[in-house]
Amino acid sequence: MTHLRVAIDGPAGAGKSTVAKKVAEKLGLIYIDTGAMYRAVTWKAIKSGIPPTDEKKITQLASSIHISFQSSDNQQKVYADGVDVTEQIRSAEVTGNVSKISAIPGVRARLVELQREMAQTRGVVMDGRDIGTFVLPDAEVKIFLTASLEERARRRTEELSNKGIQADPVEILKSIARRDEMDSTRDLAPLKKADDARIIDTTGLSIPEVVDRIVTICHDYIGTNRRGEEYNGV
Ligand code: CDP
Ligand code: CDP
Repeated sequence: MTHLRVAIDGPAGAGKSTVAKKVAEKLGLIYIDTGAMYRAVTWKAIKSGIPPTDEKKITQLASSIHISFQSSDNQQKVYADGVDVTEQIRSAEVTGNVSKISAIPGVRARLVELQREMAQTRGVVMDGRDIGTFVLPDAEVKIFLTASLEERARRRTEELSNKGIQADPVEILKSIARRDEMDSTRDLAPLKKADDARIIDTTGLSIPEVVDRIVTICHDYIGTNRRGEEYNGV
């Protein structure tokens, strides 16, 4: 049995996690949200009172934290050291600090090791910033999702409003732009399209349209490359 690995990268609000989850469901693959892992480390650092500048302590924290994903009722929950942190890792405080924490080499080394382990024995859809370029450079399918900054900010503002949080759209746009800039310019594994990734600009596309495009790309890959091999779940 061969494992299909689908790597989805792109900037904040491009639709990666929403779409990756649905693609995984359709193809019977496991969804791995690598951003949630960086967020979990950030949450723990804040909770432990460690400033983002203390690289040594944060690296130690990343090497001892236990992160797991559990699916129930169509929802994926994220646990850090046994605590359900699904909601807490989306807080403005975590979002504001995560790009600093994720630029620390020791943090990346540890999380990338865990991510590669997760994809070793099963088919996955993994989303993040460096999946196609660094974590799984030989993934069978690579997608780079993008959308205009204005569209991504609009989506995030609407998402918060649906949760009853009234956020200033201008502040959201600035915060996304700041995070994109930090994620794309850091030294280690910056946000970048892999040379062999397919770009999908999701501005003006609905979620089902994006999901269908990716599922079709996966089926095309299998149709072209299956040489008597069975892909799991597909
Ligand atoms: O969902 P959203 O696009 O807001 O962000 P996320 O996927 O939850 O990722 C949060 C942050 O983690 C990003 O802004 C990056 O700083 C970092 N990250 C990373 O460095 N590498 C990854 N593979 C995934 C996320
Ligand atoms: O993971 P990432 O930050 O790339 O984006 P997301 O959290 O999956 O999507 C951000 C928001 O945009 C969600 O509320 C989605 O429902 C919405 N979205 C959309 O409106 N149209 C799309 N084609 C994709 C996502």
